[in-house]
Amino acid sequence: MEKLLIKGGNSLSGKIKCSGAKNAALPMIASTILCEDKITLKNLPYLQDITTMFELLGSMGSEILLDENMNFTISSSNLSDIEARYELVKTMRASILVLGPLLARYGKARIALPGGCAIGSRPVNYHLDALKLLGAKIKLKNGYIEASAKKLIGNSIRFDGVTVTGTENLMMAATLAEGRTTLLNVAKEPEIIDLAEMLNSMGAKISGAGSEEIIIDGVDRLHETVFSIPADRIEAGTYLVAAAVTNGNVTVEGINPKRLMKVISKLKDTGADVKHDQESISISMNRDHPRPVDITTAPFPEFPTDMQAQFSVINAISKGTSNIYETVFENRFMHILELNRMGCDISVKGNHAIIKGVKSIYGAQVMATDLRASASLILAGLCAKGETVVDRIYHIDRGYERIEEKLNYLGADITRLPS
Ligand code: EPU
Repeated sequence: MEKLLIKGGNSLSGKIKCSGAKNAALPMIASTILCEDKITLKNLPYLQDITTMFELLGSMGSEILLDENMNFTISSSNLSDIEARYELVKTMRASILVLGPLLARYGKARIALPGGCAIGSRPVNYHLDALKLLGAKIKLKNGYIEASAKKLIGNSIRFDGVTVTGTENLMMAATLAEGRTTLLNVAKEPEIIDLAEMLNSMGAKISGAGSEEIIIDGVDRLHETVFSIPADRIEAGTYLVAAAVTNGNVTVEGINPKRLMKVISKLKDTGADVKHDQESISISMNRDHPRPVDITTAPFPEFPTDMQAQFSVINAISKGTSNIYETVFENRFMHILELNRMGCDISVKGNHAIIKGVKSIYGAQVMATDLRASASLILAGLCAKGETVVDRIYHIDRGYERIEEKLNYLGADITRLPS
């Protein structure tokens, strides 16, 4: 297994460009199933999860072409299969995103039931309950979700809990349903707005994405479009934290700061100087130690759970004690034990981490357990004394495009060690 070797202590500086957002791209690729025509996606990030989603669509009969400008054209005009097999679903839970589109366009789907993962049990009951309210018949059999519907019929649906991919699945399914669907208690993440914009560019009639209530008026068919994936707000946030923990001076380009307002505000609370215009965010940190910041994760527009592990590192080297409450996933503190092996002083009680800032941390051999946990270990390696080796970095390759190249460009010293 490949590893990353990080020689800590370098201060990061310079400008860096964000890649396309993984969590925007995945539902967009799934949405191509809704349409007989070709869909072209630009600015797709080169990531393992994107490759897995293409593999899934390819296994069902989609044709995927890459042109000389690195744009992908996807044609799902005539799928030969409506099944997402366990082998693929077990490597990427977001495979569940093909359920809504398959049901809407083909009236049936067979999707392996995703199991728990490193960050929590992550059931899909909200997706299934909501699809039933559109008229889908759903059975669980031999570890698979078997769904069918002659025609989905619009309805008013209140989700039992806020779910990002659940909201996306329902939005996609309802585009081809008969009549009006109203979705309530929906996720308001920017990726929901991105997906609605893409679907509308295909002829869907969706309004209210990003607000409390999404209204979808079903249409008979969708048509071709060319759509560019917006920048990855979590990647941007991670590089801003990299600058903060190394007393750096970094500008992240191509990112709309409105997508990161809570993160920017918390970075300012650490004592960093953060400035932004419409398409870039700059951070400059010039303190012996950051100020500690308390954080409670929650759905957008609150502080994102996907930035929690990274902020654990800022707090770990801060001057003082801080609290992090993780309210979205029940088991998202796996990085803490590894950070403590690098000299951090963090204790965890249930969903509450109590972080006592230490003067310095030191390099160690550590193990990545999930995507954002791996990012936090790299960040810790950047500000640690000595060498850190992060093992199981396939987790990071799922969601960060060329992370060591980008960080090295800013002055880090990271080498990918072959397996
Ligand atoms: N939940 C249920 N039942 C459901 C659906 C969700 O109980 O049917 C619970 C989950 O177990 C969790 C909470 O509701 O406790 C929120 O989960 P959500 O469904 O919103 O998460 P998701 O859609 O599976 C997406 C991102 C995650 C991100 C979360 C929260 C994608 C592909 N994934 O997951 O991204 O953490 O929203 O913002 O969009 C990552 O990129 O590292 C990542 C994990």
